[in-house]
Amino acid sequence: MTTDNFTPIAEIPGTQQPASHEFLRAMPKAELHLHIDGALSPQLMFDLAARNKILLPYQDVAEIEKAYQFSDLQSFLDLYYQGAGVLQTEQDFYDLTWDYCEHCRADNILHTEISFDPQTHTERGIDFDIVIKGTLRALDDAKAEWGLSYALMLNMLRHLSAEKAMQTLQQALPWRDRICSIGLDSSELDHPPVKFEKVFAKAKEYGFKLVAHAGEEGPPEYIWQALNILKVDRIDHGVRADEDPALLDYLVKQQIALTVCPLSNVRLCVYEHMQQHNIMTLLEKGIKVTVNSDDPTYFGGYLNDNFVALAEAFELTQAQALRLAFNSFDASFISDSEKHLFFKKLADFATQFNAQTD
Ligand code: ADE
Ligand code: ZN
Repeated sequence: MTTDNFTPIAEIPGTQQPASHEFLRAMPKAELHLHIDGALSPQLMFDLAARNKILLPYQDVAEIEKAYQFSDLQSFLDLYYQGAGVLQTEQDFYDLTWDYCEHCRADNILHTEISFDPQTHTERGIDFDIVIKGTLRALDDAKAEWGLSYALMLNMLRHLSAEKAMQTLQQALPWRDRICSIGLDSSELDHPPVKFEKVFAKAKEYGFKLVAHAGEEGPPEYIWQALNILKVDRIDHGVRADEDPALLDYLVKQQIALTVCPLSNVRLCVYEHMQQHNIMTLLEKGIKVTVNSDDPTYFGGYLNDNFVALAEAFELTQAQALRLAFNSFDASFISDSEKHLFFKKLADFATQFNAQTD
């Protein structure tokens, strides 16, 4: 059974009623764009700094929160890499990931595809294996405890060289069966996807799925490069695609998914207000957009907070919310049979929710 000739979304009983907060919270969903270092809460940052005897440039949690005012992507990345410095041991990576898994449970995220940036840590002397072992152990515990489904994605830092990315790819090979994809993140401007052509070609040879941040701050040309040169399966962000009608047509025809992060885009000043965000327009055009939190502790919200922000800005209907949740499973890297189990859960939820509230 493939998703191409099967349209279960048509069978999901969405209505034109507004999607209430309770509807959005209880709705089964997947998250496909989440940087695990971006889920480091100010409290955990303090706890880990104390545990590892690291001096932070903040007196308390309130001071950290006050510092989280960003003017663009780079102003955020500077604080994000500084914050990640408190992560030292396998247990630290476990605690960070476990914290995020608990939020998955609260937000009814049934499947998550989280990304980690090993170079953020290997560049400061932390072993690749320490990072991945702590991260996977937490994900495995969440899977055992309440059945969280997950995939682990490895992102290369694009402000570093292609040679360093190639070395990181080699370090990942012993973990080949635990890592589903190779991606590209960090400072987008001046680091076009083409810089990583050889790395992505090699990653494809090894059988990894491929993704790349493109069109977050960078031009539509970077999205074309990610698709045509890196041959990615999915685009992270991609909101600037709306400046290029031929690109929009291509995304619709090829059903290339965009993992959009609404609160992130507003906090990083891609849009001044949520009402200006283009996600609902892209959805109406038939692009497979999904909702994601990106770096929840830095941008003021986890996945449900992103749905709630959309509901408030655009008066989201149940049908629209269900379409976004459907897309999140559909655009994931799980098998078609697994997808159909999640589609069924989504359909059952919609039926039961309205039956209970009628
Ligand atoms: N790394 C963490 N968050 C990111 C984002 N929004 N864009 C690029 N790189 C990132
Ligand atoms: Zn991102």
